[in-house]
Amino acid sequence: MKTAGGSPSSINRKLNKNMAKFYITTPIYYINAPPHIGHSYTNIAADTIARFKRTAGDDVYFLTGTDEHGQKIAKSAKEAGLSEQEFSDRMASKFIELWKALDVSYDDFIRTTEPRHIKAVQHALNIMRDNGDIYLGKYEGWYCTPCESFFMEGEGDNNLCPDCKRPLERISEENYFLKLSKYQDWLIEHIKANPDFIKPVSRYNEVLSFLVNNKLGDLCVSRPRSRLSWGIDIPFSKEHVAYVWFDALINYISAIGYASDEAKFNKYWPADIQLIGKDIIRHHAVYWPIMLKSLGLKLPKTIFAHGWWMINQAKMSKSRGNAVNPLDMANTYGLDVYRYFLLRDVPFGLDGNFSDEAIIKRYNSDLANDLGNLVHRTATMIEKYYAGKVPAERRLPESPLNTEIEKLNTEVDASISQADFSLALEKIWVIINQANKFIEDTKPWNLVKEKKREELECFILLLVKVIRTVALSLSAVMPQAAGKISSQFDADVIQKGTPLFPRIIS
Ligand code: MSP
Repeated sequence: MKTAGGSPSSINRKLNKNMAKFYITTPIYYINAPPHIGHSYTNIAADTIARFKRTAGDDVYFLTGTDEHGQKIAKSAKEAGLSEQEFSDRMASKFIELWKALDVSYDDFIRTTEPRHIKAVQHALNIMRDNGDIYLGKYEGWYCTPCESFFMEGEGDNNLCPDCKRPLERISEENYFLKLSKYQDWLIEHIKANPDFIKPVSRYNEVLSFLVNNKLGDLCVSRPRSRLSWGIDIPFSKEHVAYVWFDALINYISAIGYASDEAKFNKYWPADIQLIGKDIIRHHAVYWPIMLKSLGLKLPKTIFAHGWWMINQAKMSKSRGNAVNPLDMANTYGLDVYRYFLLRDVPFGLDGNFSDEAIIKRYNSDLANDLGNLVHRTATMIEKYYAGKVPAERRLPESPLNTEIEKLNTEVDASISQADFSLALEKIWVIINQANKFIEDTKPWNLVKEKKREELECFILLLVKVIRTVALSLSAVMPQAAGKISSQFDADVIQKGTPLFPRIIS
């Protein structure tokens, strides 16, 4: 995409940096149901960071994918009257199509049924078995079939799953276990020594206190084939397949060449940031680091757990029938509006309530009123006073707005690198609002009347600088709208055109 260009800070960012690698991942999604806004949230967030890092000149590897094994998928395939593989193919393509429609610029899409992944999972299992971290034992415990999760004694009130509240089943069988307990103290030390390892800080505290106050039981990493055959074969047992979460977590390394392409793997691992939802923090901040440690691999630099989107304060799910389709949202309000809303309305890390009213409110105030007006008024003035030609560059007088705009890219860069999208957008909007106020205070029509040519030129040039910089800062969040603004303001002849965000009357 053509960038807004011309902003000194953006150029510096590109020149001053050696090309650094940046590896970012999203969870891989279960394919038993079509994607909803919760899934799109993580991928839009990851896409925004990936785009930002690419603009900054980094060598970005952005991974997403689908989690295709396990009981849940086997059950859904059966219900659909398809083989598991056929069902997986059909459902995985829905995710691929959605990411395309939402402008999600991933570099790689991993499916857990791919040979590259299966090979990596089996390789990992062999290593852990050889180093004594995986052993054969007896499993007796409480299990939630829909969530595919085991719970410790006392974790589920009234024998109900703490996550989905459905009844837990008592199970007893021979299985393979990973020695989590062996690594508990090491993990506590790692977390203490690396305050950025788990974010936000509320989740950091949650995981640390869980580890400090509970003794970890070992993790059951297999399932008897007699109960579940839809999984990756355990290389050292004909009777077992891998537990779907063990299989799934390995995707983060199998995609970048673990057990197949050493150079690629060494280039990208460890991940710079792994985005997840808050419900899967334990898998990612406890099991995953221990698996990596057992494999002799480094840990990701940051695991960031975002909050949940609720509908009328309730969880969204297939069974409740209240899941919102991201494509419908993008079609109704525009893709960039949808992306903007998700990233602006709620700080990443907190829960949010999703509603049409909330989108419309944001749209009218932030996009139609603030950004849309600034762009439209400025273009209109350039058309009217200068026949569409931006006046020649000149040194702009010192002003608070000019000083602020110089800092904007650096500030936005810092916030987006921390996955603090709402803060980044707030900062951009401070500038937009200052610029709108600048127009109102300056009263350009008076400058025209009083023939203050130089002042009018400086005024227009500053607004153009603001708009180009804002478009550049917004390009990762709203690629299409920012691209349109940039092209409009980089054209030889600027035209006011039609407003980018006409008001929605509701
Ligand atoms: N397959 C596992 C992840 C394996 S990663 C190695 C899984 N899949 S999932 O499809 O159930 O959920 C994927 C992600 O979607 C999770 O991060 C979850 O937090 C997120 N969300 C599901 N519903 C959500 C909302 N309503 N709001 C925000 N995110 C939500 O778990």
